[in-house]
Amino acid sequence: MQLIETVETWRKTLDGERHAGRTVGLVPTMGYLHDGHASLIRRAAAECDVVGGTLFVNPLQFGPSEDLASYPRDLDADARLVTECGAAYLFVPSLEEMYPTPVQTTVLVGDVGTRWEGVSRPGHFGGVATVVAKLFAQAGPCRAYFGEKDYQQLAVIRRMAADLSFPVDVIGCPTVRETDGLARSSRNVYLTVEERAVAPNLYLALLAGAAQARQPGATPASVDRAMASIVTREPRFILDYAAVVDPATLAPASSLAGDLRFLIAARLGRARLIDNLGVTV
Ligand code: PAJ
Repeated sequence: MQLIETVETWRKTLDGERHAGRTVGLVPTMGYLHDGHASLIRRAAAECDVVGGTLFVNPLQFGPSEDLASYPRDLDADARLVTECGAAYLFVPSLEEMYPTPVQTTVLVGDVGTRWEGVSRPGHFGGVATVVAKLFAQAGPCRAYFGEKDYQQLAVIRRMAADLSFPVDVIGCPTVRETDGLARSSRNVYLTVEERAVAPNLYLALLAGAAQARQPGATPASVDRAMASIVTREPRFILDYAAVVDPATLAPASSLAGDLRFLIAARLGRARLIDNLGVTV
């Protein structure tokens, strides 16, 4: 595996791969990689001729009171995991090269990014869309892999790629979970032992929502309540939202029919946990 640190080398390398007739898979990350990231790299390696991971902790997507300074980092372990999963390259650009001067131009996201997470984290998806637009522009034509774990992020990136005409196929990959159902996340390290023990309630709430959705007479509101009640019966959780939404626009579902996405977010101690589930009624 080759570590690449400059945009110029990164562009030349991926252009060279495409000129040689090879398809490129891109896996953007902020590092501190775990099985969830590994699943994206393996999927990309199975579907593309060469895979490049990217590792950049993007300041633009962190709010002023968020964990930018303390975001966990371990480049050596990340390089090992990326290699084991079959990536040929890991692009680790510097902050100076990604944002040389105070940024003047950013991507503005619409409703898909202002609801739900967008309410709790104003500006977050604008920061995500901006850095992913840069990563797409730097990488060129490719297939780019993102996790359904961050479902709203995936929806925002799909729309951004389509709206701005990037020559990139955005591929969503299933959420990787611990055996007790907790979605893998770099931020799970913030949980105390007691918090970690109750953290799977978030996933249990989604499953309870899915069961409620199949009850006669169920409505989107009754599903929202079923999910919320599972989370709030554990007083350590502070529920942010629990909602049934349209899987593409993320607007609240008007009825329980067809393909739906159930979204949930709550604070648990220092951590803010999010999860979601695709449900077809
Ligand atoms: P990061 O949190 O490092 O996640 C990188 C990718 O891994 C994202 O596509 C995310 O959805 C996926 N991922 C994380 N946990 C997962 C899990 N348990 N199962 C499956 N996939 C999982 O998301 C970001 O970084 C950044 O916002 C980024 C897109 C890189 C832009 O800065």
